[in-house]
Amino acid sequence: MLKLRYLSHSAFILDDGENQVIIDPFISGNPTAPISADEVKAKYIVLTHAHGDHFGDTLKIAEKNGSIVIAVNELANFVARNGVKSHNMHIGGAYNFPFGKVKFTIAHHGSANNDDEYMGEPAGVIISMGGKTIYHAGDTGLFSDMKLIGEINDIDVFLTPIGDNFTMGIDDAVRAVDFVNPKLAIPIHYNTFPVIEADPNEFAAKVRANGHKSLVLAYGETIEL
Ligand code: NI
Ligand code: MN
Repeated sequence: MLKLRYLSHSAFILDDGENQVIIDPFISGNPTAPISADEVKAKYIVLTHAHGDHFGDTLKIAEKNGSIVIAVNELANFVARNGVKSHNMHIGGAYNFPFGKVKFTIAHHGSANNDDEYMGEPAGVIISMGGKTIYHAGDTGLFSDMKLIGEINDIDVFLTPIGDNFTMGIDDAVRAVDFVNPKLAIPIHYNTFPVIEADPNEFAAKVRANGHKSLVLAYGETIEL
């Protein structure tokens, strides 16, 4: 059994009852965040890329919880230079952690920290935990290799950006769901800021019309998978 909690934007907590993993913990400065960073208890932090709306409270959470940050090499080194434990990985590679397996995928985007220093390639991430497989696409445009990702992996939940401007908009994300063919598609990265306003229910309706399942999560909502 796996619990998936949506913290708004691209942030999630995965909880198998024993381990908590937080993805892209943008909480402080996030107007839609339902909790404060102080409330997070996660031994592992997975980052898709270094942009502030994904890196977020990584250092604060890691310092407080002694967390290990899992990221591509350049970003993981940056985290380590800031005194936090890291596990360096890269795109295409998988590793078995005590909580489950993490594999990084490509994403078409950028990755720089708040000082505009290059932090390696941006990524998506496939996490297998508690008997479920979650594909978090990170920030990305649509790419046809999502079809390959869907063929190689039995994806239970696909977390896909829909906010447009920086990432896929609704129609490209609907196509991405066709490619990945998950059991459930959940929209992310929308309505946090005016420039990424999008209607998640329009996305969900279009996904359902194509024969897939979709769920729009409220900020702070937890679902059991
Ligand atoms: Ni980004
Ligand atoms: Mn972003």
